[in-house]
Amino acid sequence: MQGELKIPRHIAFIMDGNGRWAKKRLLPRKAGHREGVVALKRMIEECEKAGVEMVTFYAFSTENWKRPQDEIDALFKMVKEFADKHLAEYVKRGYRIMFMGDLTKLPKETVDALRKILSEAKDNTGMIVNIALNYGGRDEILHAVNRILDTGVREVDMQTLSDCMYTGGLPDPDVIVRSSGEKRLSNFMLWQAAYAEFIFIDDYWPDFDAKIFRQILEEYSQRDRRYGNVRRIN
Ligand code: FPP
Repeated sequence: MQGELKIPRHIAFIMDGNGRWAKKRLLPRKAGHREGVVALKRMIEECEKAGVEMVTFYAFSTENWKRPQDEIDALFKMVKEFADKHLAEYVKRGYRIMFMGDLTKLPKETVDALRKILSEAKDNTGMIVNIALNYGGRDEILHAVNRILDTGVREVDMQTLSDCMYTGGLPDPDVIVRSSGEKRLSNFMLWQAAYAEFIFIDDYWPDFDAKIFRQILEEYSQRDRRYGNVRRIN
């Protein structure tokens, strides 16, 4: 591609296709999730190299509780291990770490590991790594509305509602990327997605690598973002 690549401030990933990746190799679904964690680490490295300010990953949705219990247990064990091994390393690099979703329903040892990371990272100022856990876009909007109602107000404006989202004060995603060829939002960042570009990649999530990341940046760079205006503004 000719010319400069445009770098999104905030890129969000819907990590899909771990199960199909594993099935294709006659492996258990858990193996797909394990490779999914490796791909997630690759994408964090690529975002850092590109100078992205914030990256969000959809790791567990409010609907994922319908999965078999052993898969749920394996996923939360992976989240704990990821926190202990890798997030701890990212904290040392100065990344800001955040989790969006209702963490109260997660296993205690996972929540403890996440809280430890949050406290260690509290003064960091680097790239924001945001992981959605037990997250649902509708759930988030309801949670925000209830927070506002608790203050006793009778009318809500756009800014107040925005500020009460998990991502309050942070940039909306410029681009939402979904792997595995599925073209749905699946209850992900419904409020924040208002002006996001959507990029759908056919490859399964565990196959995401530097080449695919480059392809995403190229595709994003070609998009004409007008925000309801008539002229190209970036
Ligand atoms: C979707 O693939 C993937 C998930 C629901 C889980 C994503 C989780 C990880 C990548 C690992 C754990 C996360 C962290 C933060 C350590 P799918 O299982 O729905 O795939 P399928 O549609 O092919 O079955």
